[in-house]
Amino acid sequence: MKKTEETNDWNADRYNKHADFVSALGMPVVDLLDPREGERVLELGCGDGTLAVEIEKLGSCVVAVDLSDDMVAKSKQKGLDAHVMNVTALAFVEEFDAVFSNAMLHWVKDSRLAVQNIYNSLQSNGRFVAEFGGEGNVEQIVEAMREVFARHEEYGEFDNPWFFPRESGYKELLEDEGFVVEYIELIPRPTPIDDISNWLNVFANGIAQNLTPEQKYEFIHETREILKSKIYTSKDGWIADYVRLRVKAVKS
Ligand code: BEZ
Repeated sequence: MKKTEETNDWNADRYNKHADFVSALGMPVVDLLDPREGERVLELGCGDGTLAVEIEKLGSCVVAVDLSDDMVAKSKQKGLDAHVMNVTALAFVEEFDAVFSNAMLHWVKDSRLAVQNIYNSLQSNGRFVAEFGGEGNVEQIVEAMREVFARHEEYGEFDNPWFFPRESGYKELLEDEGFVVEYIELIPRPTPIDDISNWLNVFANGIAQNLTPEQKYEFIHETREILKSKIYTSKDGWIADYVRLRVKAVKS
């Protein structure tokens, strides 16, 4: 299925093969959530359900949502209560003790609407615990892609699909919408990946969606060439310049 506003076309098998580090590195965010027996937790961007399963092991009950049909199908196979749903279209009202999200909110450009919907989903004193890309996240990768687009007028405009906020800006947004921010931190986390071509194939599909197959091949090849001198060494392999924004806020 093609990407639309309400679904995306992420392939769960390709994601699992090249991006399984995303859930593995999300465990500290589960620790920050500190899920308790009998709590109702909404997970935004559940992917294949790996972290929701960990949260349920601790006794909470998870409603898991994601934009990808394929990912939701994988989550359901794990026995989760999973749904295809956009964060900008959440219609829950005071239903959850906690809202949790790992490595997803940087895909939502309308961050204010996302925060409002999260706030409305929570019961009073409910907590919002999340981690996603913050200021400076994958900057080298974005700049390399931008450079390749600039070389090829025929590709059209480079359209950055991500929102990587500053700590201060996101704190202000949360407070504006009624949250008390207990913790917020920007954390540089250089992250080993298997090969930048695979990363681009999984995560830059939207950016390359209007390119022909030949142009897409060229785009990935040229981006890889630029990045080789910046984020690759023979000793350590490919290290992506991830920067996480980690947050815990409470509905007052
Ligand atoms: C991230 O988790 O920071 C991320 C993943 C894919 C594309 C951009 C950012």
